[in-house]
Amino acid sequence: MRKKIVAGNWKMNKNLQEGLTLAQELDAALKGKQVNCEVVIGTPFIHLASVANAIDTEKIGVAAQNCADKASGAYTGEVSAEMVASTGAKYVILGHSERRAYYHETVGILKEKVLLALENNLTPIFCIGEVLEEREANRHFDVVKSQITSSLFDLSKEDFSKIVLAYEPVWAIGTGKTATAAQAQEMHAFIRKTLAEKYEEEVAENTSILYGGSCNASNAKELFSNPDVDGGLIGGASLGVDKFMPIIEAF
Ligand code: PGA
Repeated sequence: MRKKIVAGNWKMNKNLQEGLTLAQELDAALKGKQVNCEVVIGTPFIHLASVANAIDTEKIGVAAQNCADKASGAYTGEVSAEMVASTGAKYVILGHSERRAYYHETVGILKEKVLLALENNLTPIFCIGEVLEEREANRHFDVVKSQITSSLFDLSKEDFSKIVLAYEPVWAIGTGKTATAAQAQEMHAFIRKTLAEKYEEEVAENTSILYGGSCNASNAKELFSNPDVDGGLIGGASLGVDKFMPIIEAF
Protein backbone atom coordinates (compact mmCIF):
# COMPACT_ATOMS: atom_id res chain seq x y z
CA MET A 1 0.00 0.00 0.00
CA ARG A 2 1.36 3.39 -0.93
CA LYS A 3 1.83 6.00 1.77
CA LYS A 4 -0.48 8.94 2.34
CA ILE A 5 1.61 12.04 2.99
CA VAL A 6 0.87 15.63 3.91
CA ALA A 7 4.04 17.68 3.45
CA GLY A 8 4.48 21.34 4.27
CA ASN A 9 6.73 23.53 2.14
CA TRP A 10 7.60 26.61 4.16
CA LYS A 11 9.53 28.13 1.23
CA MET A 12 11.53 31.21 2.31
CA ASN A 13 9.40 32.01 5.34
CA LYS A 14 10.03 32.02 9.11
CA ASN A 15 13.30 32.97 10.76
CA LEU A 16 14.96 30.31 12.89
CA GLN A 17 13.08 31.14 16.08
CA GLU A 18 9.73 31.36 14.31
CA GLY A 19 10.38 28.11 12.48
CA LEU A 20 11.33 26.29 15.67
CA THR A 21 8.18 27.55 17.34
CA LEU A 22 6.01 26.39 14.45
CA ALA A 23 7.66 22.95 14.39
CA GLN A 24 7.23 22.55 18.14
CA GLU A 25 3.61 23.65 17.99
CA LEU A 26 2.93 21.08 15.31
CA ASP A 27 4.76 18.43 17.32
CA ALA A 28 2.59 19.26 20.34
CA ALA A 29 -0.61 19.23 18.27
CA LEU A 30 0.23 15.76 16.96
CA LYS A 31 1.23 14.32 20.32
CA GLY A 32 -1.03 11.43 21.29
CA LYS A 33 -3.06 11.89 18.12
CA GLN A 34 -3.63 9.09 15.65
CA VAL A 35 -3.38 10.48 12.14
CA ASN A 36 -3.89 8.58 8.91
CA CYS A 37 -0.97 9.98 6.94
CA GLU A 38 2.72 10.74 7.25
CA VAL A 39 3.47 14.34 8.13
CA VAL A 40 6.49 16.14 6.70
CA ILE A 41 7.72 19.72 7.03
CA GLY A 42 10.01 21.29 4.45
CA THR A 43 12.04 23.96 6.17
CA PRO A 44 14.81 26.30 5.01
CA PHE A 45 18.28 24.72 5.24
CA ILE A 46 19.35 26.62 8.32
CA HIS A 47 16.37 25.31 10.29
CA LEU A 48 16.86 21.63 9.54
CA ALA A 49 19.14 20.51 12.36
CA SER A 50 17.43 22.56 15.07
CA VAL A 51 13.98 21.44 13.96
CA ALA A 52 15.02 17.79 13.71
CA ASN A 53 16.44 17.99 17.25
CA ALA A 54 13.38 19.69 18.68
CA ILE A 55 10.62 17.40 17.44
CA ASP A 56 9.75 13.72 17.29
CA THR A 57 11.06 12.89 13.81
CA GLU A 58 9.26 9.56 13.90
CA LYS A 59 6.03 11.56 13.85
CA ILE A 60 7.09 14.45 11.64
CA GLY A 61 9.58 13.91 8.85
CA VAL A 62 11.88 16.82 8.10
CA ALA A 63 12.57 17.86 4.50
CA ALA A 64 14.99 20.23 2.84
CA GLN A 65 13.59 22.25 -0.04
CA ASN A 66 16.58 21.67 -2.28
CA CYS A 67 20.08 20.22 -2.39
CA ALA A 68 23.13 20.74 -4.57
CA ASP A 69 23.72 18.89 -7.82
CA LYS A 70 27.32 18.22 -6.76
CA ALA A 71 28.54 15.92 -3.99
CA SER A 72 31.04 18.29 -2.36
CA GLY A 73 33.78 20.79 -3.09
CA ALA A 74 34.25 24.38 -4.17
CA TYR A 75 30.62 25.39 -4.73
CA THR A 76 30.24 28.45 -2.54
CA GLY A 77 26.82 28.77 -0.99
CA GLU A 78 25.59 25.31 -1.93
CA VAL A 79 24.31 22.64 0.48
CA SER A 80 24.92 19.00 -0.40
CA ALA A 81 22.54 16.07 -0.02
CA GLU A 82 25.00 14.55 2.46
CA MET A 83 24.85 17.70 4.58
CA VAL A 84 21.06 17.65 4.48
CA ALA A 85 21.01 14.02 5.59
CA SER A 86 23.45 14.75 8.42
CA THR A 87 20.92 17.15 10.01
CA GLY A 88 18.39 14.38 10.55
CA ALA A 89 16.25 15.35 7.56
CA LYS A 90 14.79 12.38 5.71
CA TYR A 91 13.30 14.07 2.66
CA VAL A 92 14.28 16.65 0.06
CA ILE A 93 11.88 18.56 -2.19
CA LEU A 94 13.38 18.67 -5.69
CA GLY A 95 12.30 20.30 -8.93
CA HIS A 96 9.85 22.74 -7.40
CA SER A 97 8.54 25.04 -10.12
CA GLU A 98 10.01 28.05 -8.30
CA ARG A 99 13.46 26.43 -8.50
CA ARG A 100 12.93 25.58 -12.15
CA ALA A 101 11.69 29.06 -13.04
CA TYR A 102 13.80 31.39 -10.85
CA TYR A 103 17.00 29.36 -10.45
CA HIS A 104 17.05 27.76 -13.89
CA GLU A 105 17.13 24.17 -12.71
CA THR A 106 17.19 22.07 -15.83
CA VAL A 107 16.17 18.44 -16.20
CA GLY A 108 19.87 17.51 -16.24
CA ILE A 109 20.58 19.34 -12.99
CA LEU A 110 17.54 17.73 -11.39
CA LYS A 111 18.67 14.31 -12.48
CA GLU A 112 21.96 14.81 -10.60
CA LYS A 113 20.15 16.09 -7.51
CA VAL A 114 17.87 13.05 -7.45
CA LEU A 115 20.85 10.68 -7.69
CA LEU A 116 22.69 12.44 -4.87
CA ALA A 117 19.58 12.49 -2.69
CA LEU A 118 19.10 8.75 -3.17
CA GLU A 119 22.79 8.03 -2.51
CA ASN A 120 22.36 9.79 0.82
CA ASN A 121 19.17 7.94 1.73
CA LEU A 122 16.97 11.00 1.36
CA THR A 123 13.51 10.53 -0.12
CA PRO A 124 13.07 12.97 -2.99
CA ILE A 125 9.68 14.67 -3.22
CA PHE A 126 9.95 15.39 -6.91
CA CYS A 127 7.71 18.17 -8.25
CA ILE A 128 6.22 18.32 -11.71
CA GLY A 129 3.52 20.46 -13.26
CA GLU A 130 2.55 22.58 -16.21
CA VAL A 131 2.17 26.36 -16.54
CA LEU A 132 -1.15 27.90 -17.53
CA GLU A 133 -0.29 28.38 -21.21
CA GLU A 134 0.61 24.70 -21.47
CA ARG A 135 -2.72 23.65 -19.99
CA GLU A 136 -4.61 26.04 -22.22
CA ALA A 137 -2.81 24.61 -25.23
CA ASN A 138 -3.79 21.13 -23.99
CA ARG A 139 -0.13 20.19 -23.57
CA HIS A 140 -0.24 19.52 -19.84
CA PHE A 141 -0.03 15.73 -20.14
CA ASP A 142 2.95 15.91 -22.49
CA VAL A 143 4.75 18.44 -20.31
CA VAL A 144 4.32 16.43 -17.12
CA LYS A 145 5.28 13.19 -18.83
CA SER A 146 8.44 14.74 -20.22
CA GLN A 147 9.40 16.18 -16.80
CA ILE A 148 9.13 12.70 -15.31
CA THR A 149 10.82 10.91 -18.19
CA SER A 150 13.76 13.28 -18.52
CA SER A 151 14.78 13.46 -14.87
CA LEU A 152 13.65 10.13 -13.43
CA PHE A 153 13.32 7.40 -16.02
CA ASP A 154 17.00 6.49 -16.05
CA LEU A 155 16.54 5.26 -12.48
CA SER A 156 16.40 1.55 -11.79
CA LYS A 157 13.08 0.16 -10.64
CA GLU A 158 14.50 -0.15 -7.16
CA ASP A 159 15.59 3.48 -7.02
CA PHE A 160 12.43 4.79 -8.61
CA SER A 161 10.44 3.05 -5.89
CA LYS A 162 11.99 5.47 -3.37
CA ILE A 163 10.59 8.57 -5.09
CA VAL A 164 7.53 10.54 -4.01
CA LEU A 165 5.97 12.66 -6.76
CA ALA A 166 4.14 15.94 -6.29
CA TYR A 167 1.93 17.19 -9.10
CA GLU A 168 1.76 20.95 -8.77
CA PRO A 169 0.11 22.81 -11.62
CA VAL A 170 2.11 26.05 -11.64
CA TRP A 171 -1.03 28.13 -12.18
CA ALA A 172 -2.39 26.85 -8.86
CA ILE A 173 0.66 27.61 -6.71
CA GLY A 174 0.11 30.47 -4.33
CA THR A 175 -2.71 31.79 -6.49
CA GLY A 176 -5.72 30.57 -4.53
CA LYS A 177 -6.77 28.85 -7.76
CA THR A 178 -6.83 25.14 -6.96
CA ALA A 179 -7.11 22.46 -9.60
CA THR A 180 -10.52 20.85 -9.34
CA ALA A 181 -10.64 17.41 -7.77
CA ALA A 182 -11.41 16.04 -11.24
CA GLN A 183 -8.41 17.79 -12.83
CA ALA A 184 -6.13 16.48 -10.07
CA GLN A 185 -7.45 12.92 -10.35
CA GLU A 186 -7.18 12.97 -14.15
CA MET A 187 -3.51 14.01 -14.03
CA HIS A 188 -2.59 11.70 -11.16
CA ALA A 189 -4.13 8.73 -12.98
CA PHE A 190 -2.20 9.72 -16.10
CA ILE A 191 1.04 9.90 -14.10
CA ARG A 192 0.40 6.49 -12.58
CA LYS A 193 -0.26 5.03 -16.02
CA THR A 194 3.01 6.57 -17.26
CA LEU A 195 4.88 4.90 -14.39
CA ALA A 196 3.21 1.56 -15.05
CA GLU A 197 4.27 1.70 -18.71
CA LYS A 198 7.90 2.35 -17.81
CA TYR A 199 8.29 0.23 -14.68
CA GLU A 200 5.62 -2.19 -13.52
CA GLU A 201 2.08 -1.93 -12.33
CA GLU A 202 3.33 -2.68 -8.83
CA VAL A 203 5.78 0.24 -8.85
CA ALA A 204 3.08 2.57 -10.15
CA GLU A 205 0.62 1.38 -7.52
CA ASN A 206 3.14 1.90 -4.73
CA THR A 207 4.25 5.41 -5.72
CA SER A 208 2.76 8.20 -3.63
CA ILE A 209 1.61 11.09 -5.82
CA LEU A 210 0.84 14.28 -3.90
CA TYR A 211 -1.15 17.24 -5.15
CA GLY A 212 0.10 20.78 -4.57
CA GLY A 213 -1.22 24.24 -5.37
CA SER A 214 -3.47 26.25 -3.09
CA CYS A 215 -4.46 23.17 -1.15
CA ASN A 216 -6.07 24.21 2.14
CA ALA A 217 -8.40 23.13 4.91
CA SER A 218 -11.49 23.69 2.82
CA ASN A 219 -10.49 21.77 -0.30
CA ALA A 220 -8.14 19.07 1.08
CA LYS A 221 -10.84 16.52 1.82
CA GLU A 222 -12.26 16.63 -1.67
CA LEU A 223 -8.82 16.49 -3.29
CA PHE A 224 -7.62 13.63 -1.07
CA SER A 225 -10.76 11.60 -1.65
CA ASN A 226 -9.61 10.86 -5.20
CA PRO A 227 -8.20 7.37 -5.63
CA ASP A 228 -4.91 8.54 -7.16
CA VAL A 229 -4.30 11.56 -4.91
CA ASP A 230 -2.13 10.35 -2.05
CA GLY A 231 -1.74 13.58 -0.15
CA GLY A 232 -0.59 17.13 -0.55
CA LEU A 233 2.41 19.43 -0.78
CA ILE A 234 1.25 22.47 1.07
CA GLY A 235 2.80 25.94 0.85
CA GLY A 236 0.91 28.85 2.40
CA ALA A 237 -1.37 26.71 4.53
CA SER A 238 1.59 24.96 6.20
CA LEU A 239 2.76 28.16 7.89
CA GLY A 240 0.35 27.89 10.81
CA VAL A 241 -0.71 24.87 12.86
CA ASP A 242 -4.33 26.05 12.76
CA LYS A 243 -4.29 25.84 8.95
CA PHE A 244 -2.03 22.79 8.59
CA MET A 245 -3.66 20.42 11.11
CA PRO A 246 -7.06 20.33 9.36
CA ILE A 247 -5.27 19.31 6.14
CA ILE A 248 -3.50 16.48 7.96
CA GLU A 249 -6.82 15.49 9.46
CA ALA A 250 -8.50 15.52 6.06
CA PHE A 251 -7.29 11.90 5.80
P1 PGA B 1 0.75 26.82 -2.11
O1 PGA B 1 2.18 26.24 -2.54
O2 PGA B 1 0.09 25.78 -1.26
O3 PGA B 1 1.06 28.08 -1.34
O4 PGA B 1 0.00 27.07 -3.37
C1 PGA B 1 2.35 24.88 -2.83
C2 PGA B 1 3.77 24.63 -3.23
O5 PGA B 1 4.35 25.46 -3.94
O6 PGA B 1 4.37 23.59 -2.88
